Amino acid sequence: MFTFTTTAALQKHLQAQQGKTIGFVPTMGALHVGHISLIEQSLANTDITICSIFVNPTQFNNAADFDKYPRTISDDRTMLEKAGCHILYAPETPDEVYRGYATQSFDFDGLDSSMEGYFRPGHFQGMANVVYRLFAIVNPDKAFFGEKDYQQLALVRTMAATHFPALEVVPCNTLREADGLAMSSRNRRLSEEERAIASHIPRILKEAMQLEITDAKQLKFWVEAEFAKVEGIRLEYFEIADSNTLQVIDSVGKNSRMFIAAYVGDVRLIDNMGL
Ligand code: PAF
Repeated sequence: MFTFTTTAALQKHLQAQQGKTIGFVPTMGALHVGHISLIEQSLANTDITICSIFVNPTQFNNAADFDKYPRTISDDRTMLEKAGCHILYAPETPDEVYRGYATQSFDFDGLDSSMEGYFRPGHFQGMANVVYRLFAIVNPDKAFFGEKDYQQLALVRTMAATHFPALEVVPCNTLREADGLAMSSRNRRLSEEERAIASHIPRILKEAMQLEITDAKQLKFWVEAEFAKVEGIRLEYFEIADSNTLQVIDSVGKNSRMFIAAYVGDVRLIDNMGL
């Protein structure tokens, strides 16, 4: 696997690969099996797979969260090599990514107004700017994003459709631990006790799915009451929204999806499941 820490070196290497299709998996590192499944999907569908590792400061609306974000570059490199990834792009400073770039303000037509967009002001603009910048640097044919960050995926698709029309954004299923917890880099910050508590998130969502309640308010009320019974979880939001518009809905239909953000200790976890 080639590793490049500068944009110039990466681009020089890519210039010599003309005619090959490029698959791209942007990450912030602290890789887990979920990331590796994105790499595998890229390897199966393109000629060259590039993974980026860059903890983007502009998408953290909380400085402590940025500081605490796990950084495990040496383990990450080992996992990528084992998976057969061709190129790691690991810029070491924000300047390496943003040099010469003027930050943009993206219009997401309301897709960013609810849930993560509401509770993490500035997060999506920071995320979209870095993804725009990475797409411009790497110029991929396909980019692979996990559905765990469902709203992020919707916004990346919107941004790519406008600015990178030839690029295919490929949605990939959320990978889960044996007890159903969605795989996330943040899980490694949970203590053993907190990890056990976190497993109530998928449990309650799965139970909610089975209730077959069609009144969204009633379902929301049931879920919130279930979370209130679990000591150690602080629910930030639970919403039932349309999978396409991401707007909160009154009545559960075939396009409905549950979205959740909750704190276990000081670790913020998100998840979503189709109804
Ligand atoms: O999902 C992530 O890890 C990040 O938001 C991304 C897409 C790599 C941009 O920094």
